Amino acid sequence: MTRIQLTVDGDSVSDDVEPRQLLVQYLRENLGKTGTVVGCDTSNCGACTVHLDGQSVKACNVLAVQADGCDVTTIEGLARNGALHPVQEAFRECHGLQCGFCTPGMIMQSLDLLKDNPDPSEEEIRLGLEGNLCRCTGYHNIVRSVQQAAGTLSGSAS
Ligand code: FES
Ligand code: FES
Repeated sequence: MTRIQLTVDGDSVSDDVEPRQLLVQYLRENLGKTGTVVGCDTSNCGACTVHLDGQSVKACNVLAVQADGCDVTTIEGLARNGALHPVQEAFRECHGLQCGFCTPGMIMQSLDLLKDNPDPSEEEIRLGLEGNLCRCTGYHNIVRSVQQAAGTLSGSAS
């Protein structure tokens, strides 16, 4: 077992983990952060996307020991004082989800995309989300959600 210490959604945590344990398993099984989901376990679907030191990563493609000393944000760390994050709110308003399984990963990836490109075109949004699959194929409304979130975030920044 290896001792790791990290910050998850603003909380400091420390645990003994097996070196082979995936970050997504650690989040779900050790910390109960089941908002981060596993769709494929083979780094194809993006459902497990979280932020590691501010960059989106597929948490099934990262070992828990690699997150030692890092700052991890999951979908569960976005809301503030009971209010959804603007990207979460946009997905809700624009019906950017059907079954919702891909949604945590879509939102975390969208945030990363908007951080680098606050005013993306439709093509840039589709490109930025190409590593995230929606089995319900709700891509049209997902793109609309990201466009709406971009507008909200740029409005709140100005
Ligand atoms: S579960 Fe990680 S990419 Fe699918
Ligand atoms: S909303 Fe069902 S997988 Fe995307």
